[in-house]
Amino acid sequence: MGQVIAVLNQKGGVGKTTTTINLAAALAKAGKSVLVVDLDPQANATSGLGIDKSAINSSIYNVLVSGENAGDAVISSQVDGLSLLPASTNLAAAEQELVSVLSRETVLKQALSNLVYDVILVDCPPSLGLLSINALVAADSVLIPVQTEFYALEGLGLLMQTIQRIQAGLNPNLKLLGVVMTMVDARNALSGQVVSEVKKHFGDFLFQTYIPRNVRLAESPSFGKTIFEHDKWSKGAKAYKNLAKEVLKR
Ligand SMILES: Nc1ncnc2c1ncn2[C@@H]1O[C@H](COP(=O)(O)OP(=O)(O)OP(=O)(O)O)[C@@H](O)[C@H]1O
Ligand SMILES: [Mg+2]
Repeated sequence: MGQVIAVLNQKGGVGKTTTTINLAAALAKAGKSVLVVDLDPQANATSGLGIDKSAINSSIYNVLVSGENAGDAVISSQVDGLSLLPASTNLAAAEQELVSVLSRETVLKQALSNLVYDVILVDCPPSLGLLSINALVAADSVLIPVQTEFYALEGLGLLMQTIQRIQAGLNPNLKLLGVVMTMVDARNALSGQVVSEVKKHFGDFLFQTYIPRNVRLAESPSFGKTIFEHDKWSKGAKAYKNLAKEVLKR
């Protein structure tokens, strides 16, 4: 099955989807076979990879709720070596519908178990609900994007407690892959303070690569492109390429 990495932070807008898509593309460009699983009802990873949501026949919803084969819902993206298990907005209902399902926390793990990829990246919704729990149960490791802002550390305690709870129960093998700082503004003194604060808490778990605030990263999803298709010479592209190198080392 390869390595399954859950990209999770219950805080909204911290760069989960941007990291999932562009890290996935960088890994694919490094020769890995990569699958992005869009586990967020907002379906931002799906549209960010240029997939028209209305043209999707089958999605992660059908896999989780109707027991459809995950392989049948996978589609290829414009990036060689990068495939997508798309989301659709009806995924919002899945959280409720799964509540009554037996072994409701392990549905995603079961669904992914027959897929053959080097790396599977799961883009989680901004919550610690049943969908994110499924991601933590299915994953080998967790990648936490942290936005460089004053309240960056807020909520990370609860996130780490949740990870520990899953480690103590449903997934003893779950590891912390690392924390990546996103939207870092080198000219901003606060950015430096936040980074050293996070470094104090997470030590070597903090990736050395920081993702800078970069307008090319922000605009690429509106073209349905990863940063490498949109502007491969941008600072954002360089950063995600470096992050991929670090991830491969871990
Ligand atoms: N490094 C960056 N530089 C500039 N803008 C960025 C960067 N990373 C993300 N953004 C922008 O910030 C917003 C939030 O990013 P993103 O959608 O990746 O966060 P998210 O954690 O997935 O959000 P949600 O919690 O809603 O799923 C988006 O508009 C995105 O384009
Ligand atoms: Mg997102």
